[in-house]
Amino acid sequence: MADVRPESMERITTPELARAFIDEQLAALRAQIGDKKVLLALSGGVDSSVVAAMLIKAVGKQLTCVHVNHGLLRKGEPEQVINVFGKELGANLVYVDATDRFLDKLEGVTDPETKRKIIGGEFIEVFAEEARKLDGIDFLAQGTIWPDILESEAGIKAHHNAGGLPEDMKFELVEPVRILFKDEVRVVGKELGLPDNMVFRQPFPGPGLGVRCPGAITRDRLEAVRESDAILREEFEKNGLAGKVWQYFTVVPEFKSTGVKNGKRTFDWPCIIRAINTTDVMEVTVEHLSDELIDHLVQRIISEVPGINRVLFDYTPKPPATVEYE
Ligand code: XMP
Repeated sequence: MADVRPESMERITTPELARAFIDEQLAALRAQIGDKKVLLALSGGVDSSVVAAMLIKAVGKQLTCVHVNHGLLRKGEPEQVINVFGKELGANLVYVDATDRFLDKLEGVTDPETKRKIIGGEFIEVFAEEARKLDGIDFLAQGTIWPDILESEAGIKAHHNAGGLPEDMKFELVEPVRILFKDEVRVVGKELGLPDNMVFRQPFPGPGLGVRCPGAITRDRLEAVRESDAILREEFEKNGLAGKVWQYFTVVPEFKSTGVKNGKRTFDWPCIIRAINTTDVMEVTVEHLSDELIDHLVQRIISEVPGINRVLFDYTPKPPATVEYE
């Protein structure tokens, strides 16, 4: 398998080019892995999903995928991973619902960086525990892509390679999409038959909905984030905005305000809608929604999401505001 992207490599933009890449990689994967076993942390994101689909084709049951649900995933995500990989593609899939473990550790934690560290650290711990239960694993597959390599070489970000697994866990790496750019991974994923909402999905941060539930995470407020996000995604899909707007989500801050519902006073959270466009994520502009869509979103969120009595829209570009709230 090529370690570096050849200068002459044509950008993969067509099904034919994707097919040629896949055929080449499948042969390389079989040569590298032989009859040994491979482990993969499958988040359901584009990169790890494409790696899983390729490995299932190359070595079938020699691959074990571990999907850790940290309780901060979007509505329907764990179910989709189980359906697509466990059922349709027949993968060896270990599903770990670690929701309670993560939320218990995060209880009362308000500092954003501490929250991120807890989520990242716990993720590695859960994954390592599952890996220890499996016998005879030689390889660790990863969804490393070419920009990860370039950025780590440029010192922009530490490459998440084998990110922090305990010292005694040594695996040889398998990185079948290592030389691809993100858009190429998507073309390859489509050719492998993965669903569009998996292949073309918007970016989603590792700490998940945890950073959209600012301050100390509580289960009820997290549920309000998850439900309002699901409504927003459904409405963007219906209104043709899903593939067009770069990233869109909701945030439910901790403070409460008064309202009135069915003649009774309420004291509930606001729900903030964020919808943005960008090319490099350094600078971000706001997607302006139609009045009709805003009105409809307000109605749906207020009536369907418990604990919300106000809907706000964030008109702030980046800079000065970051995309996420924490
Ligand atoms: P910010 O908030 O820094 O976000 O303007 C820029 C982009 O990065 C995503 N993001 C993350 N992605 N892990 C990730 O994998 C993270 O911890 C993380 N934080 C932010 C964010 O969703 C946006 O697309």
